[in-house]
Amino acid sequence: MAVPLRDLLGRSVRDLRISVTDRCNFRCVYCMPKEVYGRDFHFLERRELLTFEEIARVARVFASLGVEKIRLTGGEPLLRRDLERLVEMLAEIPGLDLTLTTNGSLLTRKAQALADAGLGRITVSLDSLDDDVFRSMNDVDFPVERVLAGIEAAAAAGLEPVKVNVVVKRGVNEDGVVDMARYFRGSGQILRFIEYMDVGSTNGWRLDDVVPAAEIVAAVDAEFPLEPVEPAYPGEVANRYRYQDGQGEIGVIASVTQPFCGNCTRVRLSAEGRLYTCLFATGGHDLRAPLRTGASDEEVATEIGRIWNGRDDRYSELRSAATSDLPKVEMSYIGG
Ligand SMILES: C[S@@+](CC[C@H](N)C(=O)[O-])C[C@H]1O[C@@H](n2cnc3c(N)ncnc32)[C@H](O)[C@@H]1O
Ligand code: SF4
Repeated sequence: MAVPLRDLLGRSVRDLRISVTDRCNFRCVYCMPKEVYGRDFHFLERRELLTFEEIARVARVFASLGVEKIRLTGGEPLLRRDLERLVEMLAEIPGLDLTLTTNGSLLTRKAQALADAGLGRITVSLDSLDDDVFRSMNDVDFPVERVLAGIEAAAAAGLEPVKVNVVVKRGVNEDGVVDMARYFRGSGQILRFIEYMDVGSTNGWRLDDVVPAAEIVAAVDAEFPLEPVEPAYPGEVANRYRYQDGQGEIGVIASVTQPFCGNCTRVRLSAEGRLYTCLFATGGHDLRAPLRTGASDEEVATEIGRIWNGRDDRYSELRSAATSDLPKVEMSYIGG
């Protein structure tokens, strides 16, 4: 077992997010705006993607360096063919918490196979219960009811509690926040409201579009009184609140108004094998080349150690006019 890694700010690496594809069947306005991700957009070719064997190998090396949690993401991870085979391979790594984030569009078909393959939990993104609002946010006219059916299918397959991610954008879906709370209260599923972030440089982000987490909590609290819950573990990204009447809990992810770089233990692997130590990084580190040119596991671990040990990024804490114009990697490429 290697020595646990520590970066320049003393942070260890615990949480690996793996993007398995940069493609998506949605065009969410805050993530893959149609004007940019149109017919001419050049997505990665199949041969450029890490194979499942390569992904599982990197995952095993990371587990030996202290990673305890792996989240599969994308793009839309369920578009990657036979994803359950990768889940099965990752589920063999002892002691790992294995999760996946999806837009839910293919979940009615896939939930049971994913659970059978050893997936532990799942997060489904759903920004509104209002069909018109949701269709315009995903921008491919996808109906709410099919995502709700996907959430049900995941719960029925035992992937409970399902976390439901809601990105709140000012003037677009903020009016639906309380409806969301009403719908999911008492269902056993956990809502997580996310502040709209300035990831990438294609979504035209403006600070005015962000609905602060405190405002979201206040809106829910006014209708259904809440009380704060202690974090389940250090570095938990969501601030949690429970309904005082015992009907469950919600979380808010305040990455813009209350940045949490100080205890960030996350690292991200892109679908083509580039490693990013920050969601807002301007560049990644190529792991695919060493993997494909015969590096041993030990050499891959040494390279990862070198990258992590040199890490000092804390973009969200430094977010300012000076940093906002830097080129940044896109969320759909690096994985949320
Ligand atoms: C990039 S998606 C990838 C997985 C999958 N396609 C999905 O939508 O769940 C992961 C998460 O990032 C969130 N996300 C994307 N762009 C965002 C932004 N600009 N600000 C905040 N969250 C964002 C999505 O809502 C989703 O919950
Ligand atoms: S948030 Fe997820 S579903 Fe929406 S465009 Fe991005 S990758 Fe696709």
